[in-house]
Amino acid sequence: MNTMTDLKQPGAASADPRRVGVARPHESAHLHVQGSAPYIDDIPEVAGTLHAALGLSPIPHGRLLGLDLATLRAQPGVVAVYTAADFPGPNDCGPIVHDDPILCDGTLRHVGQPVFLVVARSRELARRAAALASQVIQAEPLPAVLTAREAHARGQYVVPPMALDRGDADAALAAAPHRRRGSFSLGGQEQFYLEGQISYAIPQEDGGLLVHCSTQHPSEMQHMVAHALSLSSHRVQVQCRRMGGGFGGKESQSALFACCAALAASKLGRPVKLRPDRDDDFAITGRRHGFEFDYEVGHDAAGRVLAVRIDMISNAGHSADLSPPVMTRALCHFDNAYWLPNVRMRGYCARTHTQSNTAFRGFGGPQGALAIEVILDEIARDLGLDALAVRRANFYGTDRRNVTPYEQVVEDNVIEPLVRQLAEEADHDGRRAAIAAFNAGSPILKKGLALTPVKFGISFNVAHFNQAGALVHVYTDGSILVNHGGTEMGQGLNTKVAMVVAHELGTAFERVRVTATDTQKVANTSATAASTGSDLNGKAAQDAARQIRQRLADFIAARWQVDSAGISFGNDVVAHPAGHTIGWPELIAQAYLARVQLWSDGFYATPGLHWDRERLKGKPFYYFAYGAALSEVVVDTLTGDWRLLRADLLHDVGASLNPALDIGQVEGAFVQGMGWLTTEELWWQPLDGSPNAGRLMTHAPSTYKIPTANDVPEALHTRLFENRNVADSIHRSKAVGEPPLLLPFSVFLAIRDAVSAVGGHRVQPPLRAPATGEAILDAVDAVRAATAG
Ligand code: MTE
Ligand code: MOS
Repeated sequence: MNTMTDLKQPGAASADPRRVGVARPHESAHLHVQGSAPYIDDIPEVAGTLHAALGLSPIPHGRLLGLDLATLRAQPGVVAVYTAADFPGPNDCGPIVHDDPILCDGTLRHVGQPVFLVVARSRELARRAAALASQVIQAEPLPAVLTAREAHARGQYVVPPMALDRGDADAALAAAPHRRRGSFSLGGQEQFYLEGQISYAIPQEDGGLLVHCSTQHPSEMQHMVAHALSLSSHRVQVQCRRMGGGFGGKESQSALFACCAALAASKLGRPVKLRPDRDDDFAITGRRHGFEFDYEVGHDAAGRVLAVRIDMISNAGHSADLSPPVMTRALCHFDNAYWLPNVRMRGYCARTHTQSNTAFRGFGGPQGALAIEVILDEIARDLGLDALAVRRANFYGTDRRNVTPYEQVVEDNVIEPLVRQLAEEADHDGRRAAIAAFNAGSPILKKGLALTPVKFGISFNVAHFNQAGALVHVYTDGSILVNHGGTEMGQGLNTKVAMVVAHELGTAFERVRVTATDTQKVANTSATAASTGSDLNGKAAQDAARQIRQRLADFIAARWQVDSAGISFGNDVVAHPAGHTIGWPELIAQAYLARVQLWSDGFYATPGLHWDRERLKGKPFYYFAYGAALSEVVVDTLTGDWRLLRADLLHDVGASLNPALDIGQVEGAFVQGMGWLTTEELWWQPLDGSPNAGRLMTHAPSTYKIPTANDVPEALHTRLFENRNVADSIHRSKAVGEPPLLLPFSVFLAIRDAVSAVGGHRVQPPLRAPATGEAILDAVDAVRAATAG
């Protein structure tokens, strides 16, 4: 593997290693590589710890008639068995709509739904008892629905359909010189965090609980546990030092595990750990929504879109969970980088008897944006034009053509210069010609190429989530401890926040430590999600650090009898041009003796956001992040096998806080998104009357294929686009967590291009996503049949 990453980014080569903008390793990198970074299962267990396991529904839909609790309680090592009725408070962990039972409420809703909780002396014994689920659950099966299409046909949704319109799409379609209709089917994706879901609940005095939970949202876990156990929030403390990946899967769906562990710990007065096995994690929790699209587009001879009508049908699963905001983000990203004058969009969150789908990197944005990319790809093929030329003809402009369908003005548009730079640096045109020549002489192996842009909105669509708090403590030895509301899941948030604090106080990075996220330190936090972690928590920590710096400046200015405005903090030295200097530790020691407050809280709320939830209009995003990718593939049209030969990524992170971390996020997201669109296939056993009917059969790495290091192309060229955020974000950087997940659209469309070459680009290849070997062969066959006939 020869991953060519360029860390010599603009602004990165600063001489002062304390500053933001330098490439430095993840704050826990040395622990990660040594295997000594503790995850929740590594926390030393408290004496008397018990272990829990969940008993799961064996059928997709049914009425729960009875449960043979006596049999379960008689199993070796079993200490207790709980059901929904044992929760003192509501049996619900729905983050938005209260339709999400923690344990089965009488209706079985999907294969794998938790029905009861077994607590035993060991994890092994708990799991053995829980495995008796199909024997102890008595149920009357009811008709089930597994697919979004079928649920849509029946009008079964988890929330009412949504609409986002601009202009008169019907009239503009009728008047358009060219029209095409189509459908596209897009699969979901398992988060496949390496550390699975886990919660460890430890009883505290006076009915309180401490819950160690692998979660992106400690505050919500605190509220959910308090609610289900009928406690006040101040009795529940939730802590998370780090996750071994979250990817959206631990935003809301960690709640079920936290509530169950907390229930058992509170009932038994003993510590209880709940760590489902990987297969059960797959069976219980939801993932990225699969989408079905039906569309009709009207365009001119240059491929410019005049009007488009689209129905988006997502597979929400059995409950709402985060499906409504995921659909909102899908609708708000259908435009991607393009000016769409007339649109009529409908979003349907279909209720099915499967796991309840949830957040996954991009949160619906990737699904919505891929739809327009597929449509533009088809327009280009219909017109016999180059796909990049058609994309360019549709880019947002800087004049009138800069308003999104939801009425936000695109103020920071860099799409055209960014795409131009990538196309030139990676020689799009030359390689396009070379591939045409290759394909002309190669009947079996076909190459394909695609360049796709990204525009991704940054902020939570719900304005009040865009707030954050932080605490900065300076100890008398000059060391600094930072706590903020964000969570670390591998993305490097703590490193960035520590860099911001070190920068503000002018100290060495090594003086700063960030500790576990804890609801007893910073209250009422938002999920670390929507890529806003460093934007929000970085600003909050900066606010806290600035207050400390001001107090220190005032203190030392009075000593030196100078104006505090002239005092500088940098290189561990505080100085004034009149000739005064003092080292950081010395200053702190003196300030402490002078009774200067050496710690502070900080707060931040993103300005200027507003959103009309009914009409889906407003300014939901503080700014946009941009990017583009060019991918080249080769497809074996006899086997359906393919390789990514080369990928060139150019991504906009504004003025990078840390180019090493940002490039890591860009490349990680690219490969993760490539997995979604190619090898990662979710397959539920059809309702065929077999014992597995309705079961997710791809529930382990043996059957569900995520990319590995070997799938990274030999030639991977990653660059950060030279830019500064026009919005006043933390040091003018941009969020990076999710937007690059859209870069591998280029891989999928390059495969489509290669398949299309089979028919001389005269017919549309009906390639679905994921483009598995099987899907590629189906599409190749269809293209062959259409061109032969
Ligand atoms: N990177 C790693 N290594 N692990 C993760 O779980 N989650 C992604 C992204 N990058 C994730 C990751 C998702 S879904 C989001 S929303 C952001 O990180 C959250 O972190 P941030 O807001 O600090 O970027
Ligand atoms: Mo990320 S899907 O917003 O957790």
